[in-house]
Amino acid sequence: MKVIVVGKGGREHALVTALNESESTSEVFCYPGSDAILEIAKPLPGEINDVESLVNAMLAAEIDLCVGGEESWLAKGLADRARAEGIPTWGPVRDSAQLEASKEFAKEFMVRHNIPTGGYDAAEDYDSAKAAIKSYPTVLKFDGLAAGKGVAICIDENEADSFLKEVFVEKRFGDGRVLIEEYLEGPEVSVIAAVADGNYQIFTPARDYKRLADGDQGLNTGGMGAVASRSLIDSELLKQIESDVIQPSVEGLIKDNLDFKGFLYAGLMLTKDGPKVLEYNCRFGDPEAQAVLPLIKGDFAAYLMHGAKGDLNDSLIDFDEGWSICLVLASAGYPNSSRNEDLINGLDLIQDARVYHAGTKKNSEGHYVTNGGRVLAVVGRGDTRESAVEHSYKEAEKINFDGNQRRSDIGRMHF
Ligand code: AMP
Ligand code: GLY
Repeated sequence: MKVIVVGKGGREHALVTALNESESTSEVFCYPGSDAILEIAKPLPGEINDVESLVNAMLAAEIDLCVGGEESWLAKGLADRARAEGIPTWGPVRDSAQLEASKEFAKEFMVRHNIPTGGYDAAEDYDSAKAAIKSYPTVLKFDGLAAGKGVAICIDENEADSFLKEVFVEKRFGDGRVLIEEYLEGPEVSVIAAVADGNYQIFTPARDYKRLADGDQGLNTGGMGAVASRSLIDSELLKQIESDVIQPSVEGLIKDNLDFKGFLYAGLMLTKDGPKVLEYNCRFGDPEAQAVLPLIKGDFAAYLMHGAKGDLNDSLIDFDEGWSICLVLASAGYPNSSRNEDLINGLDLIQDARVYHAGTKKNSEGHYVTNGGRVLAVVGRGDTRESAVEHSYKEAEKINFDGNQRRSDIGRMHF
């Protein structure tokens, strides 16, 4: 079968790799892809500038299965259009993708279906947002897609003022409301389930390291690493997450008539009052995908094809019992800025790890150089957490570029 992945980052490189290794894939395509992704995937021919032209190009290439990697395309109705043209698509339709695209929609959904989450208020201007803040720290979120930049944890009024100015005066994210959320505390865990028409399968739990520096210090980033393992959380807790969050979410989709065939990602905080949902995403996490996908055994492409047709068949895949550690190498200046064109050395020295490209390109001499904030993810496996950590760091040490930033504590502590 011919499969296409839509997106261009590290997550899509991991998806393309997993699909390429699947028995039932004959050809894998990617749009828009990247130089590294297009080493294993084919580009879509033709001029593409919107969902319509993308779906037309998929038809021309006789694509059998479309896999939505990036949320923006799903929120623009990729799955709606592709399915209307008869292309089975793994990724929810536009209405269901609102679970990620609108934080207020997601909060209302959780309240309606009794899914544990922090309390919140919504405001449409500066003054009402200020009035809704009852105490500090407070959490302010722009209600729309903001590429992970629309959330501010404010410890005092100054910080709240400056975020609210960015949103309502400078309009940094465009037009939209702000949610004022209860501040929650605890370790975070990402639980991703494949969901198809009321059925679900929970994938290996993962943890994303969002802060730039060791010890969870420094600025928030798109993710500086991830760890994934069945043993990341104990089975009791996983059962609780399933019964309190995943199952009611999947049932809620059915009750609300929201068609959902795709990955449903629950970002959870393990508070002392139990797990609470911080956010939903309607696709795999990045960098969680880079850690979780190498643990999957079996025919992943066939699994997604069945799922896209509404028939989730859990006998088609299996999960490795070990640990997977994903280390992100970021460029100089990240996350405030990023530096391009730094030459990446050592890619050819990697022996026993997967390397996924997030922000790279080939220069005129054919060498990979930095091309974005998060540049590479190096992913190693081990039977234990400690061995996976040692292994990943040993491999990642071989790769270098000027100004590179990486954490040295990914996976070193259990939480
Ligand atoms: P989100 O994009 O909504 O997941 O938020 C990004 C990050 O902000 C989360 O991974 C948390 O680290 C933090 N965060 C979000 N919501 C809250 C909250 N209500 N309380 C404390 N931290 C939060
Ligand atoms: N790792 C967080 C996300 O993908 O949104």
